[in-house]
Amino acid sequence: MDLGIKGKTAMVCAASRGFGRAVALQLAAEGSRVAMCARGQADLEEAAAEVRHVAASAGSGPDAVLARSVDVTDAAAMEAFIAETEQSLGGPDMLLINAGGPPAGRIFELDDAAWDAAYRLNLAAAASLCRRVAPGMAERGWGRIVQITSVSVRQPVENLVLSSVIRPAAHALIRCLAEEVATAGVTVNSVAPGFHTTSAVERLITRKIADEGCTRADVLAGWTREIPLGRLGKPDELAALVVFLMSEPAGYITGQLITADGGWVRGTF
Ligand SMILES: NC(=O)c1ccc[n+]([C@@H]2O[C@H](COP(=O)([O-])OP(=O)(O)OC[C@H]3O[C@@H](n4cnc5c(N)ncnc54)[C@H](OP(=O)(O)O)[C@@H]3O)[C@@H](O)[C@H]2O)c1
Repeated sequence: MDLGIKGKTAMVCAASRGFGRAVALQLAAEGSRVAMCARGQADLEEAAAEVRHVAASAGSGPDAVLARSVDVTDAAAMEAFIAETEQSLGGPDMLLINAGGPPAGRIFELDDAAWDAAYRLNLAAAASLCRRVAPGMAERGWGRIVQITSVSVRQPVENLVLSSVIRPAAHALIRCLAEEVATAGVTVNSVAPGFHTTSAVERLITRKIADEGCTRADVLAGWTREIPLGRLGKPDELAALVVFLMSEPAGYITGQLITADGGWVRGTF
């Protein structure tokens, strides 16, 4: 299938590991120009080198990839990153809203500072990005915004109170924006991953082992028992869904929350 995104510019947030990195790689393989960010310089440089290699194999020039060490909650740094992207790669046609997840925890363990940080990381930063990037897409008459959320939008997840509360609001943002920009040719969607094999899930496993005194095999067996497909997802699988939603043929899909969880959520059709 021709995804129709060769030569278009994508901004991929939180792209040094996990889902963001997998999305950046697949976009580069499609011939898109990629601006990527994350906080840590070392992981970002390693990821950017891989993305540049894939971009070159897809026939893109050496300047098709821009990587900057930026925290998505730092408004001034994000503005500089977006402005540099516009100048060197062109105004973003595709945007991946992504960041680390809020820390695990239960209601009585989480103080006001933890709530405030989760709000800033997983909701306010997304709103600010949309406000800055969507108008340019609308002016150019084409755009694709995809947000990575979590199955916690569909069903609260044990021990992940912050995610289970903040992420439904983050999807509501996407739903509202989708209505506002629909007539301008811009689609806006969320994806809701279940358990996937990324470094974020490795951290959850480590915490469960410490909390419960169980083994890694116990944790994985407990999760996979609840997943009809009987395994964790791969970041590449989720990235393929994201890149499809960013493509030309996905132009009639907007305002949606698309779940990729191996069948874990039982509550909704
Ligand atoms: N993996 C899963 O099973 C799963 C399931 C549901 C939802 N999710 C959610 O999906 C999102 C991505 O998760 P992942 O599994 O890909 O995680 P990951 O493997 O830990 O990767 C997270 C990426 O985000 C970057 N990042 C974190 N905080 C950032 C910030 N403030 N500004 C810029 N970049 C930041 C990290 O780099 P730096 O740390 O260097 O900044 C890294 O590149 C998270 O919100 C996670 O909660 C994951």
